[in-house]
Amino acid sequence: MTAIKKQTFRERSRSVLKSIWYSPRFRAVAFAPVDALERARGRDPLLPPRRLQYVGRREDFAPVGAYWRDRLVRDNGVGPDADVLDIGCGIGRAAVALIPQLPAGTYEGFDVVPQFVAWCSREITSRHPNFRFRVADVRNRQYNRHGDVAPSEYEFPFADGSFDAALAASVFTHMEPDGVRRYLGESARVLRPGGVLVSTFFLVDDEVEGRLRGPGPAFALDHRLTDAAGEAYLAADPRVPEFCVGIFEPQLIAAAAEAGFEPGPAIERGWWSGREVPGDAPYQDVVTLRKPV
Ligand SMILES: C[S@@+](CC[C@H](N)C(=O)[O-])C[C@H]1O[C@@H](n2cnc3c(N)ncnc32)[C@H](O)[C@@H]1O
Repeated sequence: MTAIKKQTFRERSRSVLKSIWYSPRFRAVAFAPVDALERARGRDPLLPPRRLQYVGRREDFAPVGAYWRDRLVRDNGVGPDADVLDIGCGIGRAAVALIPQLPAGTYEGFDVVPQFVAWCSREITSRHPNFRFRVADVRNRQYNRHGDVAPSEYEFPFADGSFDAALAASVFTHMEPDGVRRYLGESARVLRPGGVLVSTFFLVDDEVEGRLRGPGPAFALDHRLTDAAGEAYLAADPRVPEFCVGIFEPQLIAAAAEAGFEPGPAIERGWWSGREVPGDAPYQDVVTLRKPV
């Protein structure tokens, strides 16, 4: 892996602080008092405690969940008896929003952070047994540094053709391209014919690459790295590349076709890169992939 730009002292300090912020042990101690207080005051049991709330802000929990629910149900026809897979389900934002939508369906979520899965299983599965969660011990320098399996080798624990729809919200933005390629292949395998994968990326094309050198983007993606297979990508932090990964768009399009999805995915540009997008555009680029019938 090579970084073309050396990290400054400021960047390095920020990266160390982020590692501390993301450490489950640090958070368990730091947030213990406020979590105990909120529990005593009767917090909504389907709202995660603050120690786990590092996937977005707490006030975003319900609106972001609702956004993904709508993308699946309203935009992609996920019906009440559908089987849905949530790749990198986090603290259950999409899961909680989907509960009323899948009265006769099933939801399976997996994630690399055991604490997330433990909370989702304890609070969600116990009340809604058709919603299940499992740990995938996959390596990720941000979320699961000591994971057992490389993302590029992980096999989803589901049979071929098990799902009508899959979601990977803000997950491929935290994976190197070799892992993304594998996950696209696994997604296509476990989807039924006609099934859909709704996913997000920081996609880099020529226009975005130009903008990345200016003040427009929401963050800097100024380290060009390569994954174990030699494929180039961009990252904000060479020490922990998975903090934020930009994938080159032509590579994504080729990988999706190779995985078995229909050619010409629907790409809705997000505003993260600073390019001109409609007012209601999402933050990340949303890529919808369909398995041929
Ligand atoms: C920004 S969070 C998004 C979580 C959730 N999708 C949401 O929108 O609330 C990224 C999630 O991806 C998970 N993750 C990272 N690498 C993963 C992998 N290889 N397989 C599954 N989950 C992964 C992280 O643990 C984290 O929960």
